[in-house]
Amino acid sequence: MNKTVLITGASSGIGEATAQYFLQKGWNVSATMRLPTKADTLKTAPNIIYPRLDVTVPATIKAAIDETLAQFGRIDVLVNNAGYALMGPLEGVTSEQLQQQFQTNFFGLVNTIQAILPIFRHQKGGTIINVASIGGRLAFPLTSSYHATKWAVEGLSESLSYELQRFGIQVKIIEPGGIKTNFIHRGTVWVSHPDYTMMIENMNSFMKRIDAALPGPEGVARSIYQAANDRSGRLRYSPYGETFFWLHALLPQPVWRSLISNIMLGKSWRRA
Ligand SMILES: NC(=O)c1ccc[n+]([C@@H]2O[C@H](COP(=O)([O-])OP(=O)(O)OC[C@H]3O[C@@H](n4cnc5c(N)ncnc54)[C@H](OP(=O)(O)O)[C@@H]3O)[C@@H](O)[C@H]2O)c1
Repeated sequence: MNKTVLITGASSGIGEATAQYFLQKGWNVSATMRLPTKADTLKTAPNIIYPRLDVTVPATIKAAIDETLAQFGRIDVLVNNAGYALMGPLEGVTSEQLQQQFQTNFFGLVNTIQAILPIFRHQKGGTIINVASIGGRLAFPLTSSYHATKWAVEGLSESLSYELQRFGIQVKIIEPGGIKTNFIHRGTVWVSHPDYTMMIENMNSFMKRIDAALPGPEGVARSIYQAANDRSGRLRYSPYGETFFWLHALLPQPVWRSLISNIMLGKSWRRA
């Protein structure tokens, strides 16, 4: 029997590429998304379905899981991919914006995990793959809200990996580096503040400069597939992220911090 993967946020970017990659490999794919009409332009095949799933609405999670089980009989892998970035100075972030960021990137992921666990325990196995970021172990300027959610995902995932071992359930963390998707454009909500204008402009122009050079999402889809099939007990996979982790570990902290400030914020970070 073919294996089945359920992916959140499969309407674009890493989620869409992952759905296509698993499909090519012969898996059954439940490519869930907030607005299934977005699937109108995506591939149709007997072993792919496009259920509606908004990670912030638990009833849609249950319905998507039920639809997947009805269609394919079981779910072997859950890929928690849905997310967006709230960017800008913390001083300008409203409580509602921060809560919404956590509702999607953190509590949304918790919602899907809690919904799938009874099924995985009943099946006596399954794999949960959480898409964090290199920004789940490192932090860059003007991204504090987003980093807070991804660091939370890292901590939750590592702890959870121990408690689920005895049920035959694996947890994996994917930590992509910068990837060319809708993320920087449509997937990023910018917060402004008059006293941080120059910093925001510099960060924005840094992101636009690097955007053209970023790799596409296919490499991340490959890592997710590798994680789904890896029985070694490995927890973290860092497509396009390893160099950052090495540099961060090897460079003295003041050197690393100056590099990040100078590259991302230019001179605007210096004391006024
Ligand atoms: N691109 C990068 O550089 C990068 C680097 C590291 C980590 N990541 C992570 O990779 C994941 C995917 O991002 P991406 O780069 O592929 O960006 P993307 O193209 O913007 O895709 C984000 C996906 O998340 C979905 N989404 C947002 N809120 C949702 C909700 N409440 N319920 C269900 N789906 C929701 C979006 O759906 P809609 O179409 O409905 O908006 C979209 O399908 C995110 O978790 C992101 O943090 C990205």
